[in-house]
Amino acid sequence: MRFDHRHLLGIEPLRPDEITTILDLADQYVALGRRREKHANALAGLTQVNMFFENSTRTQASFELAGKRLGADVMNMAMQASSIKKGETLIDTAMTLNAMHPDLLVVRHPHSGAVDLLAQKVNCAVLNAGDGRHEHPTQALLDALTIRRAKGRLHRLNIAICGDIAHSRVARSNILLLHKMENRIRLVGPPTLMPSGVEHFGVEVYDNMEEGLKDVDVVMMLRLQRERMDGGFIPSEREYYHRYGLDAEKLAHAKDDAIVMHPGPMNRGVEIDGTIADDINRSVIQDQVEMGVAVRMAAMDLLARNLRAHPKEVMA
Ligand code: NCD
Repeated sequence: MRFDHRHLLGIEPLRPDEITTILDLADQYVALGRRREKHANALAGLTQVNMFFENSTRTQASFELAGKRLGADVMNMAMQASSIKKGETLIDTAMTLNAMHPDLLVVRHPHSGAVDLLAQKVNCAVLNAGDGRHEHPTQALLDALTIRRAKGRLHRLNIAICGDIAHSRVARSNILLLHKMENRIRLVGPPTLMPSGVEHFGVEVYDNMEEGLKDVDVVMMLRLQRERMDGGFIPSEREYYHRYGLDAEKLAHAKDDAIVMHPGPMNRGVEIDGTIADDINRSVIQDQVEMGVAVRMAAMDLLARNLRAHPKEVMA
């Protein structure tokens, strides 16, 4: 079992066998999470600080629970209320925290690259909980675990990622991961919501759900990231739902046993029909939440092992 990294900043630097290592360990933590006694001690004595510069419900709760189940001291910094509001820079805040000697720093930030920058300034392990439209590695890992458990494998699957690809770090991290694991990826959405350079991604691109979903094993829906749009990317939500919202009619083009995923938070009636989201025979959205805790436990456990093994050494 090898995982030679000091930080988890993105999927990009990970090898397929390292991805498998995280997922295998996460499987064990899924089992632990289903027991009445959910504690393990992989992070005992360590301090975990969560710094969320962007709103989050499930990701922050998931990291908090993951740390607590593994015995860490977990602190959530209320970044909205912090000195950032008084004009302190990201780096100043990080240096202040660094002086308190955290071991694990979990960071979400609206700017792409901000978490990488911060990782260069601190002595602890940094986990990226989403930076701008760049990466969201634990989301891609939890999606991968959900797919692997539902489909029995994580290779040679046809996977459609649908909707607002351009603004989505979830899409970016998933494309990187699913590509490394040798799946066929389709991106489905309006041309205005496709990222620039998409022709070099090694994926198929569709602007029509009926064709894009044909015979796929996995349908991954994305939220319209309105907070990252500055202008008219879509004609109207009604029109968007009509063309790209996942409903029973469109889902009928996928394989009969295709699973439906969404990272949350969902806009019901905009990118997905509420009855599909709640259909326990098709939707694995709740499983994604459960896998999220387990994957974060696994990622922090592996990083903590490296911290303990090489306290001073600089790793990738
Ligand atoms: C995603 C995010 O923040 O990037 N959500 C999440 O982590 N649960 C996706 C989104 O906000 O649409």
